[in-house]
Parts: sequence; structure tokens; C-alpha cells
Amino acid sequence: MSNRVIDTLNAHRTRRNFTDQAVSDETLATIVTTAQQAPTSQYLQAYSLVEVTDPTVRQRLASITTKKTVAGKGRLLVVLADQNRNVQLAATPTAKRALTELDRFMGSVEDATLFTEAMVMVTESLGLGSVVLGSINNDTQAVIELLNLPALTLPVFGFQIGYPATTPERKPRLGLDAILFKDRYAQPASYQASLTAFDQQLHDYYQQRGSHARDEHLSQMTQEALGSSAKRHDFLKIARQQGFLPELTELSD
Ligand SMILES: Cc1cc2nc3c(=O)[nH]c(=O)nc-3n(C[C@H](O)[C@H](O)[C@H](O)COP(=O)(O)O)c2cc1C
Repeated sequence: MSNRVIDTLNAHRTRRNFTDQAVSDETLATIVTTAQQAPTSQYLQAYSLVEVTDPTVRQRLASITTKKTVAGKGRLLVVLADQNRNVQLAATPTAKRALTELDRFMGSVEDATLFTEAMVMVTESLGLGSVVLGSINNDTQAVIELLNLPALTLPVFGFQIGYPATTPERKPRLGLDAILFKDRYAQPASYQASLTAFDQQLHDYYQQRGSHARDEHLSQMTQEALGSSAKRHDFLKIARQQGFLPELTELSD
């Protein structure tokens, strides 16, 4: 099956290197406003964006994300979970309070996430490329200070877009049997074979790719991922400092 949306998604690669070609304001506005049509929890649109143009701040974000390219070409945005706007709009103390609690905290992160993926797809459909930068939260507090983020906002992703300078190989994905279950979480008989097949595909991909070829297997990849999750130990604490999750303080009292 094929159509423009399917083809765009199937051609996805993260791009980290961009040419000097400028992304126009019009293009950026099209990407953002189209992505805003993504579903949004309770229709609260609980996200916003800061574009970073100051070279010094971009340099700092490059060092936080450990990606030199973040200071370089293309346009750089930080996607925020944002209940600040909704709290200002809310009519009652009860509604204001509800917007800060876990359910709406998650809603704002979910909104920001779906919005970001929609930006990825619009960007790619226009022939541009992008990288989602979760590593912006390697130092959440620094990002809050650099961008002067008010209460009830938190950085979720950095998002850099530009005209691609390179075309990386497409990274494989798990097979359907490994991720789609029927009626309950029950791994089909083909589950292990599917994982093994993916492991081989991944290994071949890493061996054959043009740059940074390596000898990688699935188990090593998941092991490596543990390193980055360990960096976010202070995220919940900072979320509370930003006014989210007041009920957790009460729970721990
Ligand atoms: C939530 C999220 C966070 C990510 N954070 C980073 C990041 O901090 N730095 C980076 O270079 N790539 C980041 N990526 C991109 C992934 O590394 C990339 O999507 C993955 O390796 C698969 O490659 P592909 O997108 O080219 O298929 C992130 C992707 C997602 C979805």
C-alpha cells in the first residue's frame, strides 16, 4: 500500500547535518501550524515553542545535548509542556489546581510529543529534515534558566530543522509480530523469531552503514539506552519546582 503519507513515514530518517540553505519563516510557520492539527488531550493544546536564535544559547544547548551540530545550521526550537496558559485561562481554583496535577502534567507531555512527531512528518514531507533532541533534558534546570521558562512549563524536546546535507541509511524497525498483540499481551509463537530476525537486520544495518559502522546487537543497544535514562533523575523534582505535581509533595509528607 502506498500514498504520500505512507511514503513520507517509510522514508523517515533523523537528520543531524544541514546545509546553509535557510528555512524561511513561511516554511517554519507551515510546519508549526500544520503540526498543531495533531490530536491534543482534552483539547487543551498544552504545549508551546521557543525558537532559539542567540548563538551563545545555541552553543550552550549544543553542549547540554552533546551534539555540536545543535549550534550550527538550521533552525532550533525547544518544545515545551505548557499548562501556564491554561492555568491563566482557568476560571476556578479547582480547575487551576487540576491543571498542575499528574493527569494534566502527563497530558502536556503527551501533547508536546504528538505535536513534535507531527512536525517531523510535515518537515519531511516538505523535503527538509529534523532531529528530535530528548537530550535537552540532560540539564533541565539550565534550559529553564536559559529560556526564562515560567511556572508550569517544562522543556520536552529540542527540535532542529533544516535542509539535509546528508542522507543516512534508513534504520530498521521491529517486525509486526514483536509489537502487535491480539486481545491481551500474549507473545505469539513467532515472537522470538521476529526478534531474532530484527537483531540480524540491525546488526547488518550497523555493519553496512556508511558512517560510524559498528558491531551492534539488540541487547547492546538496550543496554546503552540505560545510560541516557540515568541522566534524568532530577526531572520530577524540577517538574515540582515548576509548579507541576503538587500532590506528590502531599503524598510524600
Ligand atoms: C523522544 C526522542 C528523543 C530523541 N533524542 C535524541 C537526541 O537527544 N539526540 C539525537 O541525536 N537523536 C535523538 N533522537 C533521535 C533518535 O536517535 C532516532 O529517532 C533513532 O535513533 C532512530 O533513528 P531514525 O529516526 O533515523 O529512524 C530522539 C528521538 C526521540 C523519539
